[in-house]
Amino acid sequence: MEFGTKSGNPVKTRSQCIIVGVYEDGQLSPTAELLDTASKGYLKKVVARGDTDGKIGQNVLLHDIPGISSTRILLVGLGKKDAASGSKFSQMAQSVIATLKNIPAKQVLCSLAETEAGDNNLYWKTRKIVELFSAGIYAYTDMRGTPPKPHSKVEKVDLLTDKKNHTITRRALKDAKAIALGVAIAKDLGNTPSNICTPTYLAKQAIQLGKAYASLTTKILDEKEMAKLGMGSFLSVGHGSAEPSKMIIIHHKGGKPKDPPHVLVGKGITFDTGGISLKPAATMYEMIYDMCGAACVFGAMKTVAELNLPINVTMVIAAAENMPSERASRPGDIVKSMSGQTIEILNTDAEGRLVLCDALTYISRFKPATVIDVATLTGACIMALGSVASALYANDDTLAENINAAGENSLDRVWRMPLWDEYQPQLNSAFADMANVGGREAGSVTAACFLARFTKKYRWAHLDVAGTAFRGGGAQKGATGRPVGLLVQYLLDRANVKQH
Ligand code: BES
Ligand code: MN
Ligand code: ZN
Repeated sequence: MEFGTKSGNPVKTRSQCIIVGVYEDGQLSPTAELLDTASKGYLKKVVARGDTDGKIGQNVLLHDIPGISSTRILLVGLGKKDAASGSKFSQMAQSVIATLKNIPAKQVLCSLAETEAGDNNLYWKTRKIVELFSAGIYAYTDMRGTPPKPHSKVEKVDLLTDKKNHTITRRALKDAKAIALGVAIAKDLGNTPSNICTPTYLAKQAIQLGKAYASLTTKILDEKEMAKLGMGSFLSVGHGSAEPSKMIIIHHKGGKPKDPPHVLVGKGITFDTGGISLKPAATMYEMIYDMCGAACVFGAMKTVAELNLPINVTMVIAAAENMPSERASRPGDIVKSMSGQTIEILNTDAEGRLVLCDALTYISRFKPATVIDVATLTGACIMALGSVASALYANDDTLAENINAAGENSLDRVWRMPLWDEYQPQLNSAFADMANVGGREAGSVTAACFLARFTKKYRWAHLDVAGTAFRGGGAQKGATGRPVGLLVQYLLDRANVKQH
């Protein structure tokens, strides 16, 4: 789907479908008002007859309206004007793309950025329309034997603008397109099954990405190099697998050479069987998504490179496959991490923290400005927050506030959880410096507390995205692309990108 801008009189502008709105009280959006006048009250008549009540999700298609150059009008329900908000606006935009999918129009003209969205400005609204329309037509089709027909006929969306707003609209469009690309790549990587998406596959994708942008350099560490660095914890996870583990590093140099980078670290378990502590069969297939943290930092990196943000950003993916075999870790094994701390592996299914701790030790060499790791780390996180908010943990309040603000802005929201020392004794081990599990209570918290033992040297935050990065279930399953939106928003803010 292509996006563009169009200015001029919406009455006279030709399109296959012009998209305008009506609030619950019957008030028309400004462009709808113009069309109504030109058509001698056509739209108001439709509203008066009760064909729409202006509720979000109620979108009616009108044909051959007198006095209008466009062949169709999509009259979109905008909800209550005085209760308008960013999330209502987003719901509305999602309903619009769902409706458009069932309409034969190939080219549409969208005026919805002029409608109410609480405190959010034109830049924000334009970005949301483009991001949500792009997300709405996403489908993972790479694995179909017969390529399916595209499930949307819309090829071109023009955003209606005027002279005054043209620059802002173009700016929002550029940023949104780059974000949509990053989100789509994150979904593709997440959805790719584990027989294809192996650590080696992820490394190849990273090399390709590095070649596509001048600002990027890619480096892959293989098992030998990781062994030399003393990453006994990371390596223990992939040891039971025939697929070699990889540590994948991409640097984006957009700032001054000496500027400390913002570092993103992703959990890249390409399949998590649980290892010898084998998971139950019923929903194990969902563990193709155990590399969604990695997929999302990769997607964010794509956007960063595409926008060539004027900051330094480093991405690290800890990629391994967690398999049971005669070479796999046994419960009770003790490994030594790169930090020198030893870990008793009481449960081989708590593998995410084992790969992340060595990646988090490794990155201290970059002297990071901030570090955010992203991981489908615990089932307990899903119990605590469901699929609405990602869990946020941070050892720095400013960093936590900045991430929270980015989450609210992008509507890719987080909820802060405690990292209090009182939880740390749950990780005590009889023989090693720590155990890799903290018992039944507060599972997401103790996983974060484990990571906190490796991140004392820098400002660090951890996002547990087990509930938000993908949807489970049969034919409905899929990667959501979260938290690419949050990560990119956080970086746009750090780069002082103009957002108005
Ligand atoms: N990848 C899982 C967590 C997970 C579960 C993510 C379900 C998404 C959906 C992780 O590696 C894991 O298995 N965690 C264990 C930890 C436990 C053994 C302490 C869990 O949550 O059960
Ligand atoms: Mn696991
Ligand atoms: Zn896992």
